[in-house]
Amino acid sequence: MVPGTSNCIPVMPEPKLASFSDLSPAEDDFLGDVIAGLSASPKSLPCKYFYDAHGSKLFDQICELPEYYPTRTETALMREKAGEMAAVIGPGVQVLEYGCGSIEKVRVLLDALEEPASYIAVDISREHLRAAAENLAHDYPALQVHALCTDFSQDFDIPEGIPGERRVAFFPGSTIGNFETQAAAAFLKRIAAHVGKGGGLLIGADRKKDEAVLYDAYNDSAGVTADFNLNLLTRINNELGGDFDLSAFTHDAPYNVEDGRIEMFLISSRDQVVKLGNRMFEFAAGERIHTENSHKYEIEEFQDLARNAGFAPKQVWSDAAALFSVHYFEVE
Ligand code: AVJ
Repeated sequence: MVPGTSNCIPVMPEPKLASFSDLSPAEDDFLGDVIAGLSASPKSLPCKYFYDAHGSKLFDQICELPEYYPTRTETALMREKAGEMAAVIGPGVQVLEYGCGSIEKVRVLLDALEEPASYIAVDISREHLRAAAENLAHDYPALQVHALCTDFSQDFDIPEGIPGERRVAFFPGSTIGNFETQAAAAFLKRIAAHVGKGGGLLIGADRKKDEAVLYDAYNDSAGVTADFNLNLLTRINNELGGDFDLSAFTHDAPYNVEDGRIEMFLISSRDQVVKLGNRMFEFAAGERIHTENSHKYEIEEFQDLARNAGFAPKQVWSDAAALFSVHYFEVE
């Protein structure tokens, strides 16, 4: 061995997060939300509680179901059209993602963009966010990766001084479909304020289509969506000491044509009383708990919604079967 060279393995510095900002989002009040929802008439439960560890696994299984087209259709669109998306978005941008989860979907976009300057990952789940953002920083050493722990459904400020010629928000997955139309409009307005004049928004929205196709996507033959829905009751039993009899509730997710949305319910099969601590909740046979809305938008309808929020439609991509859309908007 040549002295002085043998141990001299060049070690690249481990890419680190450029910043981690913790805006200390309020902890979920699961008990309070459940009591409020089951005390209301009609009864409801917030869809955000689907996603504990088991629920997230069930959602991953939903995405693999033959009937559940949204995820695979959006993923294929992103893969096939990433070049066109990158071209219209332009070089040197700052990408801001709301509810980034595991930070997988944005990679196909980052790979296609011309020298993106920075990426800001926004998510409420602190440790999952840190791990996912560190992975991205590791895999994209030329990109400044920032993480922002907050509840994106609430108003928040974006830290200053993060590089990028323009800010472009990314909101895939048709998560916008979970918002009531008014709330969707309000959220799009906040995005427009976040990206500012000249900024952009790349967003996935599920389209209106044949009702049977929609129905089957949320009422799959393997019953995974039913399990996903019923997992809410399992969580109430396990975490809050409820005594829901899971065999006495069934899943249904009809399409409401008038409101253009799938509405998901848990339906009581009989008259029953459910205990939660010292509270009792009565259910009549056939009574429903509303658990989720999933709004579907025609392309023009979604463009109108975005226009009202201050965005100009720039380009839209859809699949050959007209199932799903990915829109690009800019604030002019
Ligand atoms: C994650 C909100 C896009 O609405 O299609 C899937 C959730 N619910 N099956 C959707 C969901 C039942 C999903 N989003």
